[in-house]
Amino acid sequence: MLATSSRIELELRGARLTLRAPRLADAEAIVEGIGAFAVSRMLAMVPHPYRRSDAESWIYRSLREVAAGEALHFVILAEGKVAGVVSLARGWPAPNFGYWLAIPYWGRGYATEAGRLVLRHGFERAGLRLVRSGVFADNPASLHVQEKLGFVALGVSRVWCLACGARVPHIDTALSRERFLEFAA
Ligand SMILES: CC(C)(COP(=O)(O)OP(=O)(O)OC[C@H]1O[C@@H](n2cnc3c(N)ncnc32)[C@H](O)[C@@H]1OP(=O)(O)O)[C@@H](O)C(=O)NCCC(=O)NCCS
Repeated sequence: MLATSSRIELELRGARLTLRAPRLADAEAIVEGIGAFAVSRMLAMVPHPYRRSDAESWIYRSLREVAAGEALHFVILAEGKVAGVVSLARGWPAPNFGYWLAIPYWGRGYATEAGRLVLRHGFERAGLRLVRSGVFADNPASLHVQEKLGFVALGVSRVWCLACGARVPHIDTALSRERFLEFAA
């Protein structure tokens, strides 16, 4: 078990990206990134419009969960700037893999690189055996990210999208430790 301070200080480094715990100073970049409807409409529990108080609440909640060992939440740094977020959040029956990138950072392979970093940590270091995720059915780019990481589709459900104010068709996915280590690590 990592001590609380070690958990908050944890950084994961990839070829182009660094993942670190969110800080209050990231609030503005988070508002700018997730505030775009093209981003929030692809996420389940994100309001639109997105206010600074929403970002601050998310940062405080994330830090509490990370410190308690309940979840992993990272901001994604690209070229030294906050480009997005990637999380392994509390979930049942397994932690939930979630992520977003601000629009200027799309299309460079960053989601796949950030996902691989956090999943490798989750499976190799944090002892996870299964991760759940999913995408809204009209999000082929995100489905492709998950396919590259080894996720498999389990079925289709309908999930509430807060920004859209509607239930939206959703492809439910999962990734086992064995499959990630064999195919995608
Ligand atoms: C989805 C999202 C995370 C993708 O980030 P990204 O860094 O651009 O993703 P990557 O570049 O790592 O991979 C995207 C892949 O999808 C492909 N792709 C892009 N648009 C596509 C489309 N319309 N149909 C099919 N594939 C598509 C890309 O070519 C790429 O595959 P490749 O590496 O084989 O060429 C980003 O667009 C985003 O944040 N969107 C809004 C929030 C969101 O959807 N979060 C995920 C919720 S499940």
